[in-house]
Amino acid sequence: MPEMEEPKTSESQAQQITRRRFILGVIAGGAVVSAASYKILAPGGRGRTWGGERLITLNVNGKPRRVEAMKQETLAWTLRYKLGLTGTKLGCDRAECGSCTVLIDDVPYYSCSVLTNTVRGRKVVTIEGLAADDGKLHPVQQAVVDEQGFQCAFCMPGFVMSAVGYLKKNPNPTREEMAQGLSGNLCRCQDYTKILDAMMRGAETMRRA
Ligand code: FES
Ligand code: FES
Repeated sequence: MPEMEEPKTSESQAQQITRRRFILGVIAGGAVVSAASYKILAPGGRGRTWGGERLITLNVNGKPRRVEAMKQETLAWTLRYKLGLTGTKLGCDRAECGSCTVLIDDVPYYSCSVLTNTVRGRKVVTIEGLAADDGKLHPVQQAVVDEQGFQCAFCMPGFVMSAVGYLKKNPNPTREEMAQGLSGNLCRCQDYTKILDAMMRGAETMRRA
């Protein structure tokens, strides 16, 4: 027999509101989850450099960004520590978890496994670049807020970027197809059912727009 749901107290409602705010903060740019301790700063306050850097221009989130990058520097590193786009997470740093996923020319890539130098002249989009200029969230982002589909949310930007990329080639996926499309992303909290709910809801909203 199903258990009866407990009536919501004002305390549990307050927790839900707080959680909703938390998700909103992460989904719009990873601001909440980003740990300040990730940022490695030299005494002068600038990102640490190792020498051998070269000034290049990247197209990130629709804007030209000038940045000094080493030959062997990964895009994830550049985005997070040089350009301050900390919504892109670094989990495994070896192409296994998908938390660093960004779009390059509309295709999802693990940015921990792409050299920054190779994306010159290409269009890079991170989680920070998904919302409209007026702040309106992308339908997939909004669906995550509505479904509250993640626990700690560390993996969320990667899942969202993978879903947005996948939906560009398959706008009307079955649940199984969407799961397959997101199979390169891992969630340590194992919240896959709710994540899929959110992504399918985002897909539906996009079709109705
Ligand atoms: S951090 Fe890039 S795949 Fe895990
Ligand atoms: S919700 Fe915690 S890692 Fe996915």
